Amino acid sequence: MRTKIVPVPKLSFTLAPFLVLASGLLFAAPNAAVARQSAPSAHVSSDQDATAFVNALLGKMTLEEKIGQMSQVALNTKLDEPADEMARKGQVGSFLFITDAAEINRLQHVAVDQSRLHIPLIFGFDVIHGFRTIYPVPLAMAASWDPAVVEHAQSMAAKEASATGIQWTFAPMVDIARDPRWGRIMEGAGEDPFLGSRIAEAQVRGFQGESLGAPGHIMACVKHFAGYGAVSGGRDYEESNISDEQLWNVYFPPFQAAINAGAGSLMSAYMDLNGVPATGNRFLLHDVLRDDWKFQGLVVSDWNSVESLTTHGFASDEEDAAARAVNAGVDMEMTSSTFQHKLAAAVHQGVVTQATLDAAVRQILLTKYRLGLFRNPYVDPAKTASQLVTQEQRDAARQTATHTAVLLRNEGNLLPLSKQYKSIALIGSLAESKADIMGSWSLAGHPSDSVTVLEGLKKRFSSDTQIAYTKGVEIEREQTSIFDEQFTSPKPTLKTDAERDAEFHHAIDLVRQSDVAVLVLGELQSMSGEQASRLSLDLPGKQEELLEAAVATGKPVVLVLLNARPLNLTWASQHVAAILEAWYPGTEGGDAIADLLSGDANPGGKLPVAWPRSVGQIPINYARNLTQVPETADARYWDGPSTPLYPFGYGLSYSSFSMTNLRLASPSVHAGSKLEVSVDVQNTSSRDGDEVVQLYTHQRAGSASRPVRELKGFRRVSLKAGEKQTITLALNTNGLGFWSPQTHRWSIEPGQFDLWVGHDETASDHASFAVLP
Ligand code: BGC
Repeated sequence: MRTKIVPVPKLSFTLAPFLVLASGLLFAAPNAAVARQSAPSAHVSSDQDATAFVNALLGKMTLEEKIGQMSQVALNTKLDEPADEMARKGQVGSFLFITDAAEINRLQHVAVDQSRLHIPLIFGFDVIHGFRTIYPVPLAMAASWDPAVVEHAQSMAAKEASATGIQWTFAPMVDIARDPRWGRIMEGAGEDPFLGSRIAEAQVRGFQGESLGAPGHIMACVKHFAGYGAVSGGRDYEESNISDEQLWNVYFPPFQAAINAGAGSLMSAYMDLNGVPATGNRFLLHDVLRDDWKFQGLVVSDWNSVESLTTHGFASDEEDAAARAVNAGVDMEMTSSTFQHKLAAAVHQGVVTQATLDAAVRQILLTKYRLGLFRNPYVDPAKTASQLVTQEQRDAARQTATHTAVLLRNEGNLLPLSKQYKSIALIGSLAESKADIMGSWSLAGHPSDSVTVLEGLKKRFSSDTQIAYTKGVEIEREQTSIFDEQFTSPKPTLKTDAERDAEFHHAIDLVRQSDVAVLVLGELQSMSGEQASRLSLDLPGKQEELLEAAVATGKPVVLVLLNARPLNLTWASQHVAAILEAWYPGTEGGDAIADLLSGDANPGGKLPVAWPRSVGQIPINYARNLTQVPETADARYWDGPSTPLYPFGYGLSYSSFSMTNLRLASPSVHAGSKLEVSVDVQNTSSRDGDEVVQLYTHQRAGSASRPVRELKGFRRVSLKAGEKQTITLALNTNGLGFWSPQTHRWSIEPGQFDLWVGHDETASDHASFAVLP
């Protein structure tokens, strides 16, 4: 098993004298601009210029220099040579996980000023949901059902990262995930290919801006190609076995959408896909990606995934692994060093041809060119600090967090909290955690920047409401995570059973003495993300007991969840009056939750993944094929229902909405055209709020079974109290096509379709239409 790296320790500002020296080099070094001189402006030049420039450069490169470009190095892994030496000798094309602008600049100068061909490095980092300012985790972003909000959040993240000198993020992760046991479900957009595609495109636009190299932006890397979300049993890194039908219709579409949106790079996945490791899989990386989708960007492996081709029982040794990866279509190897050590031998023996090698290097150089790195590879470290966690960033993070929360239950309109409540018992160790609220993959975030729920509630409520806080229970970490070094979740402090009992009872006493209780429960930051799959979806530790005891006091209880996967809420869904899924909301989470609980903000998010009643129901995605219908209503399980606890697309609001008068512009439409679908949406409450209009279709017959329902359109709308609007969605019939396991091709099959519009996948307003050839 590999060891996950964490960012190299941040260099302190005592580096200032060095910076002066380094920036002096930019102007002084006599040979610094050799490669740059001949480069036309990367922003304005054509692809022809780029190709000419890159081909000329390629012609000057030795085999070792070419392989150097294909190697991506993490500084705190074992290196053959010091990083500077590697950069100087042209043995490295990219570094990852350096988050200090001065260090980035320094290494860039070594590469550009001191290497033979002066080729700039590209610096990569996992900017997954924010850089220094942390935004809600990607699953939460998808819950906004609002691509514009997602795009803005990722453009803000790009702004901070690029101000630090990072040019490349390893995001978005667009793996469809239908198994909440899988820890990485938090990094994607959930279960649905249509929603996932729209969120993928939005993220690419947000990271990259108008085009590669746009100032203040960074290159996206769509990952992990392909099928990682389907790992067996939700066990991280396990094999995925996916039918062709599911691969083309469910798992591929978000990748294709991200590529069509211009994603500059793509990462191969760790696992075996149908028996062939994704990193050595020519069908994926060449036939689909290059031949079929015409992808023009850079392909990077996942962390050590080239070397681990030997672990799979696929490659016989490192040389074989390197050759298989390159021949399959990997351009750059992340962290393992099989290319550095063995690729030359594979080339000498003809196992990898010169043409294949050159194609990979050309791709890397072209990418650097498109990013403008040959023109200006540097960052100004003196300007970095002032661009991090600015008020603008905080405002955007707070708005994103209020936009992504999902209200799961609100009996008797307990929320927003009435001003009549003069005392609040705030319970749960997560309520005062500055690290957990950021969620996993917030590696450059500083917990000290975070606003906790306790702080947020105090700020918002304490002028006229008393807030009493206690932990109640600690979530004890039974296992260590690869991220533990970096994450500073509060370590359990309660030691003995007696102390634990006393704390538990103290919390329940506080609930008794208060007008209302807010319990902030969920999972530690490190229980989601990579290497964080779970066997159980229960609230970890004694949180469920705490919740049940709080409800048993008879006081009104609000449950606020900080987590990033569906959890077992079966009891809570019947007994806890209000449940707000806040996800891991990020740096401004505490303020955002206070906005939501007070009613300053109104929840409007919707679930991007169905919420099972029990772990035994997994997978329980809504878009499934209906087969034999049992005679009794729900006989698919002997010991419980087969429906989810909360359906895909579900989410409440403090407002109420009606959707009426569903109408289609025409009863039939030709394949390739659009059909206008309209519905009148009214806010029937006295509070402004958001609703998501969701459109689902079902094809009645085809060359293969068609899912009971598939999302084919949506729009989040804001309506003032009482306001009514007609919302028209243009249903694109291209989106009704599918890859048929009978014909082995994608087509729109003419026929009769059902259509529903409503609040979630159980929508009942129905119409039908025909697709004509
Ligand atoms: C993950 C990738 C990530 C990479 C670099 C890998 O373990 O699977 O998603 O981008 O590490 O951190």
